[in-house]
Amino acid sequence: MKKVTLLLCLFVFSFLVSCGGKEEQKLDEIPKATETVEQPIVDNSKIELGEEIFEGKGTCVACHKPNIKVVGPSLHNIATIYKEKNASIVTFLKGEGEAIVDPAQFEVMKANFAITKTMSDEELQALEAYIYSFL
Ligand code: HEC
Repeated sequence: MKKVTLLLCLFVFSFLVSCGGKEEQKLDEIPKATETVEQPIVDNSKIELGEEIFEGKGTCVACHKPNIKVVGPSLHNIATIYKEKNASIVTFLKGEGEAIVDPAQFEVMKANFAITKTMSDEELQALEAYIYSFL
């Protein structure tokens, strides 16, 4: 009887030890995870500027929402198609590209070039980064 209890204790003990080992491993991984998070922080400021323009002076938000079509296509839809075709949103907003998302409605979008043509490359790239954040 005593031998069985001893064996049981040993079993439980070795189980606890092996669990403890795994936990140590997890702790080791934590610093690695935070290291990889650093890079996007740089891009985030660009995305934030894009959001500010999109909702502010660009007035884009009146017709574009992240995931549903309102007047214009959703940002997810625009990002997906531009990525697929490897096209440039900046070029389009400068009025130098062609509509590839919903050409039939292009006239509605075209009116906004009056605003986007006055924007700097930095502002247009920020808008592009913001739209791509909904991929
Ligand atoms: C009055 C409504 C309206 C506003 C405001 C508006 N859009 Fe649009 N947008 C549209 C419509 C409609 C389309 C679909 C036609 C098209 O694809 O060109 C579109 C399409 C687009 C496309 C895809 C173009 C393509 O290749 O087909 C992009 C990119 C875009 N808009 C960005 C913007 C940005 C950035 C702003 C703000 C500066 C903005 N839109 C403001 C209505 C609007």
